[in-house]
Formats: sequence, C-alpha cells, structure tokens
Amino acid sequence: MDNKTIWMTLEKIKDLPTLPSVYFKLNQLLKDNQASIEKVAHIIELDPAMSSRILHLVNSAFYGVRQESSSIAHAVMILGFNAVKNAVVSVAILDTFTFKDRYENFDITEFWRHAVSVAVLSKQLAERSRLVTPEDAFIAGLLHDIGKIIMLKYFKEDFGKVWKTMQKTKCSFADAEQEVASMDHVQVGAYLARKWQLPEPIIQAIAGHHYYLSSSESTGMIESLMLADALANSKYQINPDDYVFESHIEKTLKPLMLKSDSWISQAMIEIDLANEFFLEGK
Ligand SMILES: [Fe+2]
Ligand SMILES: [Fe+2]
Repeated sequence: MDNKTIWMTLEKIKDLPTLPSVYFKLNQLLKDNQASIEKVAHIIELDPAMSSRILHLVNSAFYGVRQESSSIAHAVMILGFNAVKNAVVSVAILDTFTFKDRYENFDITEFWRHAVSVAVLSKQLAERSRLVTPEDAFIAGLLHDIGKIIMLKYFKEDFGKVWKTMQKTKCSFADAEQEVASMDHVQVGAYLARKWQLPEPIIQAIAGHHYYLSSSESTGMIESLMLADALANSKYQINPDDYVFESHIEKTLKPLMLKSDSWISQAMIEIDLANEFFLEGK
C-alpha cells in the first residue's frame, strides 16, 4: 500500500489510540504563546490522574531532579514548559497503550523495554551533541516502533505474516515487512504521531528510522534515533563506520560514537531507572 492508501485505511479506524485532552490543550496553549506557569499547571491539574503521574515522574530517580516537587506549578517552574509537555506525552503513551494483544512469542513488555531504552539513548545523544531538544529525542525513541503495536491490534494478518517471516529467516521486522506486508510500522507510526500533533522532526524521525535519506536540512533527530535503535539492538556494540550521515550531523555524532564507552554506562543506569518508572505494572 502506498502512504495515501495506508492513511485512508487508518483514518477509518474509529478507536485508534489518542492522547488525553490535557496534552492537546497544553499544545494549543504553548503554540499560542499564551503560556504561564499558572495556566500550564491549571490545565494539568484538571486531570488528577495525570497530575499525580507527572509528580511521580518528576520526583522519580529517573528524572534525577534534586528539588522535590510537591505541586504541578513547582514542577513546571523547575522543568520548563516543553519538558512538562513532553512528560505528559511520555506518561500518556505508556498509559494509552494498555492493550495486551498477543501474537505467538511477541513479548509486549520486551517491546516497551526496547522503546524506553531507545528513548533514553536518543535523549543522551541529543544532550551530548546538542543537535536537538533532548525531550523531543526521548519521545521519538519512545514512539519509534509504535506502528508495530498498531499493526498487531488492527492489522493482525499483516503482523502475523511479518512475524512468521522474521522467525523463519531471522531477518529484521523492517526487512520482513518489505517482503510480505502491505504496510510498514514506520508509515503507521508516523501517521499516529501526525494525528497526535507531535512536532514535525519527531514525525520525520519515526517515518525514516529504517530508511535514511540524506538531507542538508536534517536536524539530527533521525540520526540520533537510528544510532540509539542500533545501540539498543546490538547490546551497545556498533561500528560507527557503518553509519554515514550528512556531514554536518556526522561531525558531531561520530566522535560521540567513537567514545561511547565514556557515556554508555551512565545511559544504562538511566535506562534501568526509566524502565522502573515506565514499565511499572506493564
Ligand atoms: Fe523500527
Ligand atoms: Fe526499534
């Protein structure tokens, strides 16, 4: 299926997961440049379950903020608008995808563990390279393979064909999709991210994380995501020379990969803390 056909097919699904209204309200407020600490806190506080999850997150060991936040307003003040909005997205993603559809030995907990690892690794790469906003890189990582879950729930036949091919030939999910499925998880994931009004670089990173297209306008989001995904899939053993990116990106990311020993152990600790928070009860 081409992109348009897939989009039309997805458009027809009535119960496709969505983010809570608190996220869309925040998004609008920030877009209109009308935000103040009080207004942002007020919107979040309208959703008590979300408020308590956000407080739990910002006070968690994963966030590592020394000052304890006892109110949402305080959390907004410490973290800033964008980081709080992204905290809402992260919490909402994990809370939204609660369905436990199964397929043979596909392990949903393992799926989320991978997503969280890639999220932390792309955030670390963003922090160290200063190419993109770390919080956006985190969301891109958390969502990069979300299309797989949508396929599993709504397009089980396609998912099944891909899964069987993967098991039989030991190829990657993406390669199996090319061979036997009528859609792929990057198209589906990018559709969802667009529907959720996530920033364009996040949508582009999800759409391209298996198919790198060199562009002088590249921000580094997609490259950070690809490296993070490769690191997570290879137990942190990758050959930096296997990755050829746009030169303005490569000159920043390559040195980081060449001295990955200096930061991977810190990232691994953060991955454990993030898993502890996000996968609680999964
Ligand atoms: Fe993927
Ligand atoms: Fe992945």
